[in-house]
Amino acid sequence: MSGKQVKYLAIADALRKAIKESHIAPTEALPSARKLAQQLSVNRHTVMAALAELVAQGWVEAKERSGYRVVANLPIQGSRAINKMAKTPQSFDWKFRVKQNCAVTPKVKASEYPYNFSGGQPDIRKFPFDEFKSHFSQTCQRPKIDDLSYGDSRGEAELIEEIARYLRRVRSITEKELMICNGSQEALYMISQLLLQPGDKVAVEQLGYPPAWAAFERTGATLIAIKQDERGIDPEHLAQVFAQGKVKLLYLTPLHQYPTTVSLDISRRMQIYQLAVQYGVAIVEDDYDHEFHYDSQPIAPMAADDPAGLVIYISTFSKLMFGGARIGYVVANNALIEQVAAYKMVMNHKCNVLVQQSVAKWMQQGGFEGHLRRMTRLYQKRRDFMVQQLRSYQEQGLPIHFEVPAGGMAIWLDTGKSIVGLKEKLLAHQVYLQTEVEFCRFKVLPDELTNSLASNSANNLPENLPENIPSHLPKKEYRFIRLGFAAMNEAEVTEGLAIVMKTLYGSDY
Ligand SMILES: Cc1ncc(COP(=O)(O)O)c(C=O)c1O
Repeated sequence: MSGKQVKYLAIADALRKAIKESHIAPTEALPSARKLAQQLSVNRHTVMAALAELVAQGWVEAKERSGYRVVANLPIQGSRAINKMAKTPQSFDWKFRVKQNCAVTPKVKASEYPYNFSGGQPDIRKFPFDEFKSHFSQTCQRPKIDDLSYGDSRGEAELIEEIARYLRRVRSITEKELMICNGSQEALYMISQLLLQPGDKVAVEQLGYPPAWAAFERTGATLIAIKQDERGIDPEHLAQVFAQGKVKLLYLTPLHQYPTTVSLDISRRMQIYQLAVQYGVAIVEDDYDHEFHYDSQPIAPMAADDPAGLVIYISTFSKLMFGGARIGYVVANNALIEQVAAYKMVMNHKCNVLVQQSVAKWMQQGGFEGHLRRMTRLYQKRRDFMVQQLRSYQEQGLPIHFEVPAGGMAIWLDTGKSIVGLKEKLLAHQVYLQTEVEFCRFKVLPDELTNSLASNSANNLPENLPENIPSHLPKKEYRFIRLGFAAMNEAEVTEGLAIVMKTLYGSDY
């Protein structure tokens, strides 16, 4: 900016201030440009430029032959009037305008707690940021200009190719199309919007993943909770529900059931698949943490053997990178992927290109595989460590029970006593964990339960639930907690578990 520009803007500012503070009144004439130039010891052109600026901003008007005057209605009066209105009861009512009421996200932020047992959390501190940074800067050094514009909403071709190759190798998924999404949540949302309408039913596991339910319910569809036991979802109950009609979608987490971690065995998978074919129900298979399986090869997903083409497979990089990466994917038959891609175009065009290209490079150059190997080894060690800790609590006489999960990132623990109120107590002791009631879906909810769920204080539920809850849903007490073992080191787990046990059992041990 030249010196002259600075001067004229400074003069315009000073005059505007004088008008705002009522030193010069509306409609009052300003001194002539010549006079002002003399008073301020500046060039007349500088004053003219300042006056022109004030005219452009609507503070001053130029009257032929009578020079410059302050306008009658100052811009500031308009904004004062608006401010005043906003404080009156008639101010804009967003609550009234919102057509779909969305549950407000919980106020509790798990990552702020030093002991965070949140079930699916990876240890983000272990992510190889330096290595990833080099792929990111390579991407920026040699940008692919064409790809940086809008265009194909399915995602970056090189990342699609890398993930498809990876899925062929580790999950035996072939003959389907893959599309990158902004996390698997976006995939769930788009699929719901495309396949569901009010009056439809979605069958879900009795204990499950609430963000997926929220996406289904947003369409006006109704959730039907399917009974599950220690082997996972019950095909007999599923058959009864399918037979009643209107079920369009079945949402499943077959490898590591969310939240119980149970793997659905092959025979149940086959029964369920046959039922889906018989009743024309699409299956959404959420394979959210298949990477982390420790004792054997994980069972192949249902999508790997899908002759009818009814399985929609979704997964995510949120566990092997971090949730904020927002890299997820959906794999399905082309006819559906085409529609999902068209929907995504309307919603937000495509996912972040630089991140996709950097992740593709990370995969191409082997960094991804290395990280995966290291984290699988680490999480297996951490699982074993938590198991050992819990066993030692059992030996001290605590009534806890659990199965050692073959994979995943959490242990589903029966505390042997009611966990009502536990969450709040633990938060006060700097421990975050999720309790059984947060994963429950009821068909019939009495008002007080609906209210306490809506107010995010699910653990304030009464211990004895009323009789009108369907027979297969839990009626008595909630006893389970989900203990994530991946995100914390051994010292943190030891200290955190000690707080959990003390809070649960006091000085009983
Ligand atoms: C069951 C389940 N599905 C999906 C996701 C991942 O969602 P996103 O890819 O949107 O981060 C999670 C993460 O917590 C999950 O637990």
